[in-house]
Amino acid sequence: MKKILYACLVAGAVPAFSPASAFAATVDGAAVFNRNCSVCHSVSPPPKSAPPVIPLANRYHMKFATKEQGVAHMVSFLKKPDKNKAVEPQAVSRFGLMPALALGDAELKAVASWFWDQYNPAMGGGRGMGRGQGPCINQ
Ligand code: HEC
Repeated sequence: MKKILYACLVAGAVPAFSPASAFAATVDGAAVFNRNCSVCHSVSPPPKSAPPVIPLANRYHMKFATKEQGVAHMVSFLKKPDKNKAVEPQAVSRFGLMPALALGDAELKAVASWFWDQYNPAMGGGRGMGRGQGPCINQ
């Protein structure tokens, strides 16, 4: 459903996408993701070179009560990734710290909002600690 909607938007409503993203209100989070994040992040497992979006979004939903808080944390993380701020510290050890990206506030907010909405409780990590999450190191 979402995919179809997105395809329609791309086909019809965005004849000339401004690279400067001068029009904050019209920034499409999914498009920002496809251009700037999808090299490293897949949406669902298996991972590329970073944790996939859905388990991360689930993690955000566990950690933050409101979308506002989650988006604010994500935007500040994306501006300046910091191991101590990571919602998934194990991911930092596994994949290395994410590099900061040179994106404007409007793009960061749009992509963070899209990211938050990818939450899918049916897919691991949505409830309880560590269900289906992270590397299982059992010695
Ligand atoms: C060069 C590869 C790379 C790119 C490009 C990249 N990421 Fe990441 N990202 C990572 C890695 C590696 C991690 C896991 C380690 C960490 O948390 O720093 C990560 C972690 C994250 C996290 C978890 C942050 C937290 O709070 O713990 C989020 C959210 C995220 N990325 C979103 C994005 C978004 C949105 C984009 C595009 C605007 C993006 N990433 C682009 C590599 C990348």
